[in-house]
Amino acid sequence: KLCKVLILIVSFGVGKVTAADKYIRRDFPPEFVFGAGTSAYQGEGAAKEDGRTPSIFDAFSHSGVTRGANGDVACDQYHKYKEDVQLMAEMGLEAYRFSISWSRLIPNGRGSINPKGLQYYNNLINELISHGIQPHVTLHHSDFPQALEDKYGGWISRRMVLDFEAYADVCFREFGDRVRHWTTFNEANVFAQMGYDYGFLPPQRCSSLPGLYNCQKGNSSTEPYLVAHNILLAHASAARLYGKKYRNKQNGYIGFNLLAFHFRPWTNKTEDIVATQRANDFYLGWFADPLMFGDYPDTMKKNAGSRLPSFNGAESSLINGSADFLAINFYSAIKVKDNPGSLDIHPRDYKGDIAVQLDFSLNNFTEFEFPVIPWALEGVLEYFKQKYGNPPMYIHESGQRMKRNSTLEDWPRVQCMQGYIGVVLDSLRNGSDVRGYFVWSFLDVFELLDGYEAGFGLYYVDLDDPSRRRYRKRSARWYSAFLRGGAVSP
Ligand code: NOJ
Repeated sequence: KLCKVLILIVSFGVGKVTAADKYIRRDFPPEFVFGAGTSAYQGEGAAKEDGRTPSIFDAFSHSGVTRGANGDVACDQYHKYKEDVQLMAEMGLEAYRFSISWSRLIPNGRGSINPKGLQYYNNLINELISHGIQPHVTLHHSDFPQALEDKYGGWISRRMVLDFEAYADVCFREFGDRVRHWTTFNEANVFAQMGYDYGFLPPQRCSSLPGLYNCQKGNSSTEPYLVAHNILLAHASAARLYGKKYRNKQNGYIGFNLLAFHFRPWTNKTEDIVATQRANDFYLGWFADPLMFGDYPDTMKKNAGSRLPSFNGAESSLINGSADFLAINFYSAIKVKDNPGSLDIHPRDYKGDIAVQLDFSLNNFTEFEFPVIPWALEGVLEYFKQKYGNPPMYIHESGQRMKRNSTLEDWPRVQCMQGYIGVVLDSLRNGSDVRGYFVWSFLDVFELLDGYEAGFGLYYVDLDDPSRRRYRKRSARWYSAFLRGGAVSP
């Protein structure tokens, strides 16, 4: 009887389905993939080897802003990929998410291919496939060739659209017989905002807070918008190319990745509710609206005015529907308060245009760790489902930041994975078209601003050891037990 009542409550939508805390791999569809990821600059190392030229990340990390550390050697995956794939296979990993270093493959950004770069990615992909692990490949993880930044200013120039398309063409042609899941851009929203407004990620351009983040150049009132615009055109051009030249034979998918926060109104006041929608528009809709509807959100057009570029009819139809899936990186929830005053900031910039005040207190994190907020991930998935008609989605990143050298018994990371994987199951049961979950990260890679002080890895990498030995953490054991069919309560 009790069961019947519960079923009734759930099916009438009165009761809220909460995070499943007991589940097994078989509760998910067999075609759903579980993986883990890294990115080229953060994990490969071999920065100056075999013909690779610098990317914008090399200049950034060598300028001293990443706690004096850099990715010159990093985890040395370039030399240790076989061992890493072996570890993945032992863990039972179903997919590996990594990115291609554009400057390793095409050192000048355009033109001749570096045979050693080509060989490396072929080797890595073949090694994965031979162990039954799907490669999920990102083309741009914040690290395009410095040569293109020097030549014409990188993404602030429309010339990048053609160069990116040519780079994507090489990747599809050379690797597309084995790679079916492509993501053009990782965290395009973070790249445009942090690289061109705040200026604390490469290429460190900004003008609104001169000097604070080492910004020597840039224009925060226009460049984030311009860069995002060119990125959208580049993504759509690459997707069109794939459709025309490769899709028939290769049967793959082209997706786009965003960092997604769950935004929540600070109070129940209408202004804060409207401000929360504005935050969603400026962070997610900025890219997702053009990809799903062919144009920017109205709030952006209104607040940024002529500083927001516009799409002509042909561009709009090129972009509309050009993503086969949306991928999200998820870490936290943020409360949002209306802040009309920020519109008056001079000079006007991207932050000012959003006109909100963000409160991170929900995160309440210790120096390192994020709290696990299951309803926040559920909220993000629900938002995408409702706003964009339930597109295919992947969680490309979810994970726990911890002090790097602390312990191999990383229980907070286990709790994080356990909580969020449960939420993904709930969301699937509530109808979201989620197709995969990737832990960030497979190894303790070079972290964007934290260098090697913080780690997200399932494996610890000993940086004092020239052979960069890997050590399995508790989280890797837990994930492995889950992937191999075991129950998951820690
Ligand atoms: C975002 C990025 O994609 C990745 O490069 C970074 O290391 C993690 N999230 C953690 O900050």
